[in-house]
This record gives sequence, C-alpha cells and structure tokens, in this order.
Amino acid sequence: MSTEAQQVGRRVFIHTLGCQMNVYDSGKIHAQLQRDGYQSTADPREADLILVNTCSIRERAVDKMHSALGEYRRMKREGQPVVIGIAGCVAQERGEELLARYPDVDLVFGPDGVPHVQRLVAEASTGSRVLDTDFLDLENYPFVADVDPSTHGVSAFVTIQKGCDNKCTFCIVPATRGAEASRPHAEIVAEVRALVDRGVQEITLIGQNVNSYGLKVPGELTFAQLLYAVAEVPGVRRIRYTTSHPRDMGDDVVQAYRDLPALASHLHLPVQSGSNRVLRRMKRFYTRERFLEIVGKLREARPGMLLTTDVIVGFPGETDEDFEATMTLLEEADFVGSFSFKYSPRPGTPALKLEERDPVRPEVASARLTRFQERQRERSLALHRSLEGTEVDDVLVEGPSRHDEGVVCGRTSRHVMVNFPGDIGLVGQIVPVRITRGFTHSCRGERL
Ligand code: SAH
Ligand code: SF4
Ligand code: F3S
Repeated sequence: MSTEAQQVGRRVFIHTLGCQMNVYDSGKIHAQLQRDGYQSTADPREADLILVNTCSIRERAVDKMHSALGEYRRMKREGQPVVIGIAGCVAQERGEELLARYPDVDLVFGPDGVPHVQRLVAEASTGSRVLDTDFLDLENYPFVADVDPSTHGVSAFVTIQKGCDNKCTFCIVPATRGAEASRPHAEIVAEVRALVDRGVQEITLIGQNVNSYGLKVPGELTFAQLLYAVAEVPGVRRIRYTTSHPRDMGDDVVQAYRDLPALASHLHLPVQSGSNRVLRRMKRFYTRERFLEIVGKLREARPGMLLTTDVIVGFPGETDEDFEATMTLLEEADFVGSFSFKYSPRPGTPALKLEERDPVRPEVASARLTRFQERQRERSLALHRSLEGTEVDDVLVEGPSRHDEGVVCGRTSRHVMVNFPGDIGLVGQIVPVRITRGFTHSCRGERL
C-alpha cells in the first residue's frame, strides 16, 4: 500500500454525472481524499486519479459515462499513469460488467462505497482491481461529516437521507442506492453550521424522498421538524429541499411555509403524469386530484409560491388521453418550470413488463415530449415577462454571470434567476432589483 508521504501532491479529477446526490457525493469523496493528500484538479490530464461518478436514471446518462470513460482510458493508453475509477449508480448496478468490459479501469464502487473511499483508492493504487458494491447496514449508516473542501459559494447541499424505499415502477434508484436511511438530525444541523461558517447562506436539503425523513426511526424528528431545526441555525437565510414525493407531503410541512420565512417560496414537486391511470401504473400512490389538493394548500400557506415539476412522457401504455391529462395538469397546477423526459426502460424495473406488452412508439413519445416542452417554455417565458417592470426585494446574489462581464447573477426566494449589472462584492447579499426583461430561463434587471 502506498504511504501517506507518497500520496502527498497527488491530484484527483472527478467527473460528476447525474443528480444532486451525486454532486454531493463527489464533494464528500474529494473531502476524504484530501486527508490522503489529494488535491482536486480541473484538468484530467494532470490527474493521478480520475473518478467518474455515474448516473443510470436514463440510458442517455449511461451513454455519457461510456463516452467519458473512452476519453480517460485513451489518456491512460497514451501513457498517463492514472488510476481510473467508476463510482455511483451505474457502478452499483453494473459493477462486474464494467470491470469485465474495461480492463484498464482499476476501481468500481457504488454510492455506499463513498464513506470508505480512502481505503478503496489506496487498494486500487497498489495495482489490484477493486470492486465494492455491497450495501452498508442502515443502522448507524456512516454519513460522511467532512465538508466538501471546494465549498465556497453562497449555496450548498446537505444530505438528510440515503436511498429510497419507494418502488416507482420506472425507477432504477432503489436498486442503485438501496434502502432509505435517515441521517441523525444532530449531524445535519452540525453540517449546516459548518457550512454557514464558510459563508454559505442558502441550504438545500437533499434526498430522494425527503418527506419521509425520520419516519422509520423511533425518536427522530419528522421532516417538518427538521426544517424548523435548520431554520434556527444562525446565518441560514434561505432553505430549499429536493426531492419531495407528493405521497408524503403532510400538513405539517405546509404549516412550515406559514411559520418559516427562510423557507423558499418555490417547491420542486415531481408529478410524473397527470393521468390517474398512468400514476397507478407508476405506483406513485397519489391521484391528480390529491396532487392538486396539496398544491392548493401550499399556495394558501404561501401566496405566490412557484412550483416546478418532473414529468415522464411515453410511459408504457400512455394513451393520447393520458398525455392530454398531463398537458392540462401543467396549466391547472400552474407549473412555471419542469424537467421532462421520455420514458427510458431500466434494467430490472417492474415497468419493463409493461413496456414489453404495451410500448409507446418512439416517434409518438418524441412528439409528446416536444409538445410538452414547447408549452412549458411558453409558460416560463410568460412568467418572466409578467415580472417586467416589477421590483423584487430578495435576490440572493450567487456569483458573476456566466456570460457577461460586470453582471452578477442571483435568485429570488421564488427561484427566479435574475442577472443585473453589479459588482462581484455583492455576492452573498440579498438585494432589491427592478426587472427590466423576462426571458425563458431568467430575467434581466437593474439594482435599486
Ligand atoms: N426521487 C425523485 C426523483 C428522482 S429521479 C422523485 O421521486 O420524484 C429524477 C427524475 O427522473 C424523476 O422525477 C423522473 O421524472 C425521471 N425518471 C426516473 N426514471 C426514469 C425513467 N426510467 N425514464 C425517464 N425518466 C425517468
Ligand atoms: Fe425513484 Fe420513486 Fe424513489 Fe423517486 S421516489 S427515487 S422516482 S423510486
Ligand atoms: Fe442518477 Fe443515481 Fe441520481 S441514478 S439521478 S445519480 S440517484
């Protein structure tokens, strides 16, 4: 095994695909490897260790992994002495297959390997090939405490649970991340404090189904109680969370929108479909009516709240009528933004059987997706245009605009992105802005 001294000065490059859980895990990997002397690098050609943190939610995400690996393996073939590892959800799902297919990959580990990544990397660095896809015990699950050393922004993620106990029929996540475990609230609050000490002001609590937080642990806080506990940490100015499942959205969380000004006036609440028939086949355990009832309660508790969602089109057996129900829900629930996807069959998931019997033709699914996305874009544009000439007093400035010099970018509590001319010194401040123009994804403004 390589000694600590040898490891000093090594560089790691992490390529992160997938959702907020993977982004967060990559930060935790970086934090732990730093203890062994690894610095992160933005250039894979400089790296002694390249990790691809993978996603298998849709086949296209898996394709991205293969093309990324192609590039890194070529560097290795061309003589770069680099250890290559595959982490995350594809690693968990297809570990053995990946090792067999890619003889120059040294290390494969799933999401539950993150807490002992130091050991795994050390082993792989000796030349032996390492595969670790065992799920850890849920009791005393070792959530990593170290804060991502590259945290410098205004906003940060904090994980509150791992895994998922739901069995949505289309979804691979229960297979890749295993069963749900809630992180003890004291650890969550401690991480929030550590982040605030580094200048973070906006906390996004993350998990696959945050509303079920704590329910299975005797004596643990509920998700709503956790929101209050986080809001009490001095310095926390804004709280968001993702992803919540409508099934477990209780009145206590709705109440939190009345009580906690720091809780953002935006919620991402994935609905997946507007058709009860499809929702049943997806095993989502709510109806369109129940979803709209929740939305109504939230808007009553927090007037002006904006909602975004996730939608799948072309789920097996989806008829024109089912799809129309999704289109009308877009209006009825008044979603201002959404992520929408064409159904992608996932290995081992229950929906595969439905797909064999009753697939939606790809061209039909594509046409539906295009129609949905066009309408969504119109709606987002309409919202942003309606803000033209108004003043918003709650733009939390996150950083320089990616496109324009002398322009900074921030978000309102309602998650509206606003770009306006301003100095970098404004980062971290909450400022009032007059909106001058609305675009599809953002607004332009001027500081008041
Ligand atoms: N835990 C979250 C979702 C995580 S996956 C929830 O329950 O809402 C993120 C999104 O990917 C899902 O909301 C869904 O819209 C989409 N998705 C998941 N599996 C998919 C599949 N097989 N095909 C297409 N989209 C999928
Ligand atoms: Fe997948 Fe459903 Fe769990 Fe979300 S709640 S991660 S969609 S199984
Ligand atoms: Fe992808 Fe795994 Fe997240 S499959 S969406 S990275 S939980």
